[in-house]
Amino acid sequence: MTAAPARRVVELSARELNARLGEALALYVSAMDYPPGTAEQRAPMWLAHMLRDGWRCVVALGEEDELIGIGYGYRGAVGQWWHEQVRHGLTMVAGPGAVEQWMRDYFELTELHVLPGAQGRGIGEQLLRTLLAGVPNSRVLLSTPEGPSKAWRLYRRVGFADVLRHYQFTGDPRPFAVLGRALPLG
Ligand SMILES: CC(C)(COP(=O)(O)OP(=O)(O)OC[C@H]1O[C@@H](n2cnc3c(N)ncnc32)[C@H](O)[C@@H]1OP(=O)(O)O)[C@@H](O)C(=O)NCCC(=O)NCCS
Repeated sequence: MTAAPARRVVELSARELNARLGEALALYVSAMDYPPGTAEQRAPMWLAHMLRDGWRCVVALGEEDELIGIGYGYRGAVGQWWHEQVRHGLTMVAGPGAVEQWMRDYFELTELHVLPGAQGRGIGEQLLRTLLAGVPNSRVLLSTPEGPSKAWRLYRRVGFADVLRHYQFTGDPRPFAVLGRALPLG
């Protein structure tokens, strides 16, 4: 079934996302083409993320107010798993100056997903722009599997640059790129 175009893109509070967590995780599993059990596995992590400083979430809603896209992230901080992984990689490759430049004050874009039937119509970009428009940090960082992909094209289109390439996070054999840019997007 082809999903309808986004009727609107809105911010959700943690409480509102919590109430729709099953639907949001089903969307995530469908977009990433992960096995169904992944949703239960990720639920505690998404709930923990909601408690983090600077957490912000936007969703795209379809004709019946169903979720067709989601994006969220939070302020990156010392001690967070992703922060420590990227800090280690960046220190090795580019030194402490690069760590200071990129990681002193940043928003980690943690998740961005659009239902497969709704992709390719600009909804991902709309989510990304709306999410980042409300972010107070001076930079945004994200990790994505090395391209080519729709995600890769989107991030390049809105001006994300290489921070780390072909990086392997602990426990995941895939090579990742860490991309970043200054905020606001403009
Ligand atoms: C990555 C993802 C979120 C992007 O969402 P999307 O809605 O497909 O992406 P976009 O907003 O960039 O759609 C833009 C495409 O639609 C086209 N488009 C059509 N109408 C458009 C409009 N009004 N505005 C902007 N783009 C439009 C663009 O030309 C672009 O084409 P391209 O991909 O060939 O360059 C989505 O593809 C997805 O969920 N992928 C699987 C999960 C994933 O990989 N998530 C990211 C993990 S890091």
